[in-house]
Amino acid sequence: MKGARSFGVLCFIPRIEINPTRKGNTMKKVTAQTLIEKKRAKQPITWLTAYDYPMAQFEEKAGIDIILVGDSIGMTTYGFDSTLPVTMDLIIPHTKAVRKGAPSAFLIGDMPYMSYQVSAQEAVRNAGRFMAEGGCDAVKLEGGREMLDTIKAILRATVPVVGHLGLTPQSIAMLGGFKAQGRDAAAAVRLIEDARLIEEAGACMILLEAVPPEVGKIITERAQIPIIGIGAGPHVDGQCLIVHDMLGMFEAFTPKFVKKYASIGEQIVKAIKDFSQDVARGGFPAPEHCYKMPDSELLKLQDLLKQTR
Ligand code: KIV
Repeated sequence: MKGARSFGVLCFIPRIEINPTRKGNTMKKVTAQTLIEKKRAKQPITWLTAYDYPMAQFEEKAGIDIILVGDSIGMTTYGFDSTLPVTMDLIIPHTKAVRKGAPSAFLIGDMPYMSYQVSAQEAVRNAGRFMAEGGCDAVKLEGGREMLDTIKAILRATVPVVGHLGLTPQSIAMLGGFKAQGRDAAAAVRLIEDARLIEEAGACMILLEAVPPEVGKIITERAQIPIIGIGAGPHVDGQCLIVHDMLGMFEAFTPKFVKKYASIGEQIVKAIKDFSQDVARGGFPAPEHCYKMPDSELLKLQDLLKQTR
């Protein structure tokens, strides 16, 4: 009865169609139940990050299942060297904006460093902020067996929880940098065990970061809940990427697991250079960018100016 225990908090969620489908101009709401049904039907789940309203709108239009307002915002949007400086007060306004732009996606708020590690009470309060202020469907937190009590406390407060295992960026000081995890048998067993414990504690999903595909496969096959990979190979239930990585908008470094689907950063620089050259050459603004004054009004204006000279 591993699965039934896992879904305890989510049992009030109604069953809906497996695929989020377009209805008029709106998407059907993606729920935790939708995602479980996709796993069961072996339909890959898509997950991207977003940090603002326009990107959320683009992702919603493209039909992305899950949007994470990740603490990666610290690096992608604020230029910090790590995710550690991100706070609740920084991330909540971004979460509100993303929810506004993407009303249908399953929205996850990423609990920042030290927003859940100090005490279960603080963890519950901060998880509640993501739900009440940010309009989230769940919160995500990093860590394995050491987080079980915190996960259970948040679930008791009726907030669905997503686990995050493998490379956990908030622990880079302990992990010795951004390194793949679970690459030896003992470490892999520990990860597999952690995934089981988190599921049993009631998590509705797990994000698995930077682990060998074999480990991703074992965890996915054993779990009743969706296992989404970011650098965890092809055998997981869905794939996640940081949107700035896949669009070519983050230049500091590119992890091995990233596929670039566009070079938006390069296009932005080119567009800005084109604008500067246009302005320098007098090519902008052209007549089509100017507001027209009716000829009769222009004559009147000239007369008026003559009188006031
Ligand atoms: O903060 C983030 O963007 C993450 C990624 C691993 C998806 O947690």
